[in-house]
Order: sequence, then C-alpha cells, then structure tokens
Amino acid sequence: MKTIKIEKFGGPEVLVIKDVEIRKPGPKEVLIKNLSIGLNYIDVYHRSGLYPIPLPSGIGLEACGIIEEIGSDVKLFKVGDRVTHASMPIGAYSEKQIIPEEKLVIVPDGVSNEIASCITLKGITAEYLLHRTYKLKKGDKVLYHAAAGGLGQILCSWANSLGAEVIGTVGSKSKEEIAKKNGCHHVINYSEKNFVEEVEKIVGKNGVDVVYDGVGIKTFKGSIETLKIRGMMVAFGNASGYVDTIDVKKDINAKGLFFTRPSIAHYTVKREELEESAKKVFDAVLSKKFNIEISKKYMLKDAGQAHKDLEARLLTGPAVIIP
Ligand SMILES: NC(=O)c1ccc[n+]([C@@H]2O[C@H](COP(=O)([O-])OP(=O)(O)OC[C@H]3O[C@@H](n4cnc5c(N)ncnc54)[C@H](OP(=O)(O)O)[C@@H]3O)[C@@H](O)[C@H]2O)c1
Repeated sequence: MKTIKIEKFGGPEVLVIKDVEIRKPGPKEVLIKNLSIGLNYIDVYHRSGLYPIPLPSGIGLEACGIIEEIGSDVKLFKVGDRVTHASMPIGAYSEKQIIPEEKLVIVPDGVSNEIASCITLKGITAEYLLHRTYKLKKGDKVLYHAAAGGLGQILCSWANSLGAEVIGTVGSKSKEEIAKKNGCHHVINYSEKNFVEEVEKIVGKNGVDVVYDGVGIKTFKGSIETLKIRGMMVAFGNASGYVDTIDVKKDINAKGLFFTRPSIAHYTVKREELEESAKKVFDAVLSKKFNIEISKKYMLKDAGQAHKDLEARLLTGPAVIIP
C-alpha cells in the first residue's frame, strides 16, 4: 500500500510517498482502508520536529475509512464498519492503517467520508474548547484567531450558534468575508490592524470572556491584553511559533486570569469521553449547528503541496487528502 513517510524533520520535501507492506492487526486492533484523510496543522509540527516524534515515521492523525480486518479480540467493531479516528498512532496519510479499536468511532449515516475525516480532530477540538475547557454561554464575548482556518470554520460557527458574540482575526483581506461566513460577528485583519485596539473598540475596556489562541507566539501577549478580569486564556496551538514561557505576574496575575494549554488528548482520556464528544460533534453536523465545507482536496502524492499551502496560509477551511 502507499503511505507517506518522513525519515528526517524538515520542510514539506521530507514527505515521501512509499510502497510498503502492512502487517496484520494485533488482537485489539483493526485494519482500515482509508477513504479520506484530514489535513491538520499538527501534521506540520510533527513534520518540522516542533513536536518531536521517533523517526522514521508516518504522518497524519485524522482519517475516515472502512474496516477490512479485525484482530482476534476486537469487541466493538466488525468488518465493513465505517469509522473515523483522530489520534495516535501517527500515520493517517496512508491507503491503509492499523488502529487500536478503542480509538475509533462509527460514522453515522448522513455524514460523508470527507466531512468525517475533518471533524474528528477538528470537531472534537471545537467541542471540548467550547463546552468543556470553557463552558461558552449565550452573550459571552469570544476572540478566535485565524477565523478563516480549518478549525476556525467549525469553532466560530458553532460559537455563534451557542449565542456568543464572536470576534475573529484573519491574516488577509480575502479571508475577511470567509470569517464572516464562518459566524464571526466582527472580523479584524490582524496583518493590517492592531487587534488589541480593535477588540477594545468592539467590546470596550472590559474585554472579552475567552480567547482561543492557536496562532501562538505572534498573538499571545495581545490575546492576554484583550481579556476581561478573570477571563480565560486558552492557548491551544502554535501556527506562528510556540509560547514556551509565561510571566505569571504580568500575564496572569495582573487580571486574575485563568490560563490553560490543552490538547485533544487531555479531553479524550477515557473511551466514554471520546464517544460523548464524537456524538456531540456528529449531532451538531447533522443538525447544522456549525458550518462545514471542505476547502480543498489533495491526492496522497501531493501531501507536500498540501503542507506548503497550509504553511503559506493559503487554505481557508478544512482540507482533506484522498488516498
Ligand atoms: N490543542 C489541540 O487540541 C488542537 C487541536 C487541533 C488544532 N489545534 C491548533 O489549532 C490551530 C488551527 O489548526 P488548523 O489545523 O485548523 O490550521 P488553520 O487554522 O487552518 O491554519 C493555521 C492558520 O494560522 C494562521 N497563522 C498565523 N500566523 C501564521 C504563521 N506564521 N504561519 C502559518 N499560519 C499562521 C493562518 O491564518 P491567517 O492567515 O488568517 O492568520 C493560518 O491559516 C493550530 O495552531 C493547531 O495546532 C490544536
């Protein structure tokens, strides 16, 4: 089967397509034929070495596929089930892969392969950020950075449907309309304007209730400035670079903020958490609580181009790789 491998950390050129043999599934594992693969910014961190992984390695964490073979002790699934997953082991950029059964969820009818492959990692992340990291309520003021991005599309439109006032930032003029379509009541082009001043014009000096910051080093300090007293700073990504130090006195204590740096893994520790979260996401898709449109499709052999586009900030909305 064909798969994308990396043998060293580096730019998109280290993504190499290979023909490999796939082993048999172990007792609690299943063999999946992938139908659609989600493209995520975390794949860039794995490829570049920002999040070091043992090499050589496959790449990719999110895919929807059909179960072709099950291990001797698999209880939850059968051959032919359509499933999706968003977690280790890394290696979703593949025609087939082996996954432990406890990591999988069934895809309900009415959700396409492509949508399923981009709402597992991104959808579950939006679910835990909006419902569990911070319980978003009607009337809350939210700031989300990169509102025209993959997760941005899902999270901003979901936050809007929960009754929040959503402020989204974008890096270019062409993304402004997209962020509006994604449910942002206010859009700030942070390449042209100081977003801290713009947020203040919108919500006044009191600040916003919660900031979801996946951009990282470039926006971190400004995000803190936009928060209200006892607001919640959710730093959940590093598209512009990793924030590895915070000044507790200046950044947190000055306004008595709550600060968290969550990962999807912290919110899907137990199988029940994964099942409940996935159910909320699928229900939300089927009842159209959030907007979801695939922005671009790549062939497996073009995974390097997909990474180039993602890092060049050219993608607007979730993109998938078709094996
Ligand atoms: N912690 C978790 O559980 C979790 C789970 C999923 C995703 N995430 C994080 O969520 C964020 C969004 O993920 P995504 O996959 O949906 O990606 P994405 O938002 O589609 O792409 C990243 C966006 O970040 C913005 N950006 C700002 N500065 C950048 C820079 N220097 N280089 C590249 N992009 C820059 C760009 O939008 P503009 O041009 O509009 O600025 C770009 O489109 C990422 O940080 C990701 O790691 C975290």
